[in-house]
Amino acid sequence: MSLSELLSAVRARPLPQHVAVIMDGNGRWAKARGLPRTEGHRQGALVVERLTRFVGEERLFPYLTVFAFSTENWGRPKEELEFLFALLDGFIRDKLGELAARGVRLRVLGAVDRLPASLRRTLAAAVEETKGNDALHLSVALNFGGRWEIVEGVKRAMAMAREGKATALSEDAFRKLLPTAELPDPDLIIRSGGEQRLSNFFLWGAAYAELYFTPTLWPDFDEEALLRAIHDFQGRKRNFGQVTA
Ligand code: IPE
Ligand code: IPE
Ligand code: MG
Repeated sequence: MSLSELLSAVRARPLPQHVAVIMDGNGRWAKARGLPRTEGHRQGALVVERLTRFVGEERLFPYLTVFAFSTENWGRPKEELEFLFALLDGFIRDKLGELAARGVRLRVLGAVDRLPASLRRTLAAAVEETKGNDALHLSVALNFGGRWEIVEGVKRAMAMAREGKATALSEDAFRKLLPTAELPDPDLIIRSGGEQRLSNFFLWGAAYAELYFTPTLWPDFDEEALLRAIHDFQGRKRNFGQVTA
């Protein structure tokens, strides 16, 4: 199927609302070319730009979340960390105008307080500038962990209890306390790079997500790869624990 045939096929069936992506394989992509790992990250950032434009222009789905840095990624060499943060800072600065013009609303999910101050400022300004947009909700998971998220929810619940504002805790009530409360649960979680694990990405929200794993390394992931993932998703039967046959 050509890209346009794939696009028509995907459009003919119910689309996911929220697609979340674990962008893995940058380092291996670079290594295979005899390049430093950082070149893989640079290429990977271009893929995010391309896909964001594609999803926005085609109005494929309203929520796109990309996992850019996990709470465990701090264990990487200092030079790689510095490169990643500088890359993201530059990316947001360069692309903010275009993102805003295309109606993208940017959110950051994660413990931003540990990030370099300059990056925090860039992110805060971009989040503020785009907060009125709703053509595409682009969330960047940065110093994010599924466990961090749940602990954040618990901390908020405890703070409310201390302030005498405790309400009966239910799944719905707890969900509203999570840092991802504004987003619907992901319908589809895509992981590039061949590994078949969540690596501490969404945990609470992943309860009924469809998981799609592809060996394609992130820098090689493109519009067609995204459409193939969605096409695969559309062929699944989501039961949500019920009897549907
Ligand atoms: C994913 O690519 C990007 C980040 C985690 C920041 P990797 O850097 O993990 O690439 P591989 O898995 O080593 O190939
Ligand atoms: C997952 O990739 C995190 C991101 C894509 C940001 P990793 O490369 O960090 O995951 P592991 O270490 O292979 O599980
Ligand atoms: Mg990896």
